[in-house]
Amino acid sequence: MVILGIDTTCDDTSAGIVENGHQIRSNIVSSQYAAHSAFGGVVPMIAAREHTKQIGLVMRAALQEAGIGFRDLDAVAVSNDQGLLLSLVVGVAAAKSIALACDIPLVGIHHLEGHIYSALMTHPEALQFPFLCLTVAGGHTLLLRVEQHGAYRLLGHTRDDAAGEALDKIARRLGLGFPGGAAIERLAQQGNAAAYAFPRPMIHERNLDFSFSGLKTAVVNVLDKADHYRLQDVAASLQQAVVDVLVAKTLRAAESEQLSRIALGGGVAINSLLRKQLSAAAAKKGIQTFLPARALCTDNGAMVAGAAYYLLQHRGADPLTIPARANAPLGRLQVQYRHPAKYR
Ligand code: KG4
Ligand code: ZN
Repeated sequence: MVILGIDTTCDDTSAGIVENGHQIRSNIVSSQYAAHSAFGGVVPMIAAREHTKQIGLVMRAALQEAGIGFRDLDAVAVSNDQGLLLSLVVGVAAAKSIALACDIPLVGIHHLEGHIYSALMTHPEALQFPFLCLTVAGGHTLLLRVEQHGAYRLLGHTRDDAAGEALDKIARRLGLGFPGGAAIERLAQQGNAAAYAFPRPMIHERNLDFSFSGLKTAVVNVLDKADHYRLQDVAASLQQAVVDVLVAKTLRAAESEQLSRIALGGGVAINSLLRKQLSAAAAKKGIQTFLPARALCTDNGAMVAGAAYYLLQHRGADPLTIPARANAPLGRLQVQYRHPAKYR
């Protein structure tokens, strides 16, 4: 089954073609960084305008790279839930037009489901239910128990900033541009992670929640007091603080839920230190870690097509009337989207 997946949740216009839920035939992402960089964050109106400009080209490129035409599609899927409303609308309208013109099923996907399914797409045989999923991005940081296809239980989430959002804000303060996670990782490679003892918020609390908003103040305080600092050391120490908290809370969740499989998803899941240290810490406890392919971590259309392959079989197709919703429940869960568009 060949599915076209579309994601226009925030500031990436993306379309991917996936066969049978895991064979990625193409995954085209058009980034809007340049259009937003002058504002230090994503501007919703500009995002919608850029999606409108790019969506047709991105879909055409995805089909071309896969070597197929619209007539070869068995279904079309779109992230219609959770994100910037005007951005979502562009993808939803495009998907509906294709479903109508090609007379194929339409599948609406919650954006978080795309992130959750990226590990399952990468390990379609080995990753069995139930499993724990750490979904860590610019808009979310949450721990979910994934019971079955489409059945999730929220174990913990961030009480303020998402991990990626905190990295983005600090990177902006350090003059590293937007988004900042990748820039911080690059700098951190030449830094000393023990140079600064940044806080590990809530790491010892017995709950499974996170808090990352205090990190920016901690970093700014250090910089304000220092006569001299190496940006590489700041980046490495910050990255280590974030990874320590993510790893500790994820392992606590796996142990308290007695889950022996951990999946990772979301933009921050591309981070090499997180991938390495989570896998190593879990292995010590006999827990297996399932990392998503790097191309499936930050927002992309292929993860939407992959999720749709499974969810179409479990939930069926959606009507042409599905809405686009900025904040939408994930199954029966209420999950808050941390709006990354706040530019200040
Ligand atoms: O999944 P995503 O594309 O969008 C949301 O759903 O939010 O995630 C974007 C986030 C940004 O906050 C970005 O800074 C972070 O992923 N990110 C990284 C890295 N690359 C992107 N964080 C840490 N290390 C990276 N290499
Ligand atoms: Zn995302």
